[in-house]
Amino acid sequence: MDNHASPPSSDQPRLRSPRHVAIVMDGNGRWALRRRLPRTAGHRAGIKSVRAVVEESIRQGIGVLTLFAFSSENWRRPKTEVNLLLELFMRVLRTEVNRLNENGVRLRIIGERTAFPEKLQRRIAEAEAATRTNEAMLLQVAANYGGRWDIVQAARRLATDVCAGKVAPEEVDERLFSTRLSFPDLPDPDLFIRTGGEQRISNFVLWQSAYSELYFSDLMWPDFGAEAYREAVADFARRQRRFGLTGDQADTGAEDGAD
Ligand code: FPP
Repeated sequence: MDNHASPPSSDQPRLRSPRHVAIVMDGNGRWALRRRLPRTAGHRAGIKSVRAVVEESIRQGIGVLTLFAFSSENWRRPKTEVNLLLELFMRVLRTEVNRLNENGVRLRIIGERTAFPEKLQRRIAEAEAATRTNEAMLLQVAANYGGRWDIVQAARRLATDVCAGKVAPEEVDERLFSTRLSFPDLPDPDLFIRTGGEQRISNFVLWQSAYSELYFSDLMWPDFGAEAYREAVADFARRQRRFGLTGDQADTGAEDGAD
């Protein structure tokens, strides 16, 4: 798969359907509090929306879905909430594997997984192995992930290679740098969705969202179902992606090489 955001060329049809969607699933806590439930009930309810967007992605032929499940900063939440999120993650990995296999979904976890309890790390590896050969779509779950963390770990890997004499400093460019990030084999997210009414990126896929179309929904994540997701994808289809070109250039795919 082409890894880089690039302007469409004349022999390439304009992109109407996103190849990769990234979602910040925000609003679980507020959804629960509005119902006088503990915040953790919102996270439980959020699982239903995860299923809905995964299944709708398959229907729409969206090849990759990346969900922000647990950020590097989420450790600072109350211990009971952190524990519930980790337990939920454990449980979902066990209970959803069959459904993922039935739907042909390959699972990959991105983020600093060594910070998780060993049992959870094992469960993650098992779920990834059990779904490895599925081809309908890739579900990436970002857990203990942060966009800055991703950039820093890429820099560290590259610095290690430079010190070992495998890479010369002058060889380091955007393309080479991106090969050390968390998902170098995938196209960058075309569409970046955030639910819950806030309009910020919150340290999600920072490097990879350089040219993503941003879509903000006021719905709390547990209320974001297949229909809301379809609306977001339809909104994406109406956008003109310019990648630094003029509107006309982007329309025709004709880039003037003379200047
Ligand atoms: C943000 O809402 C949501 C999270 C920190 C966790 C998201 C987790 C799930 C939806 C369930 C697990 C999913 C998978 C894929 C295993 P918030 O708590 O910040 O909501 P608030 O802004 O209303 O407080």
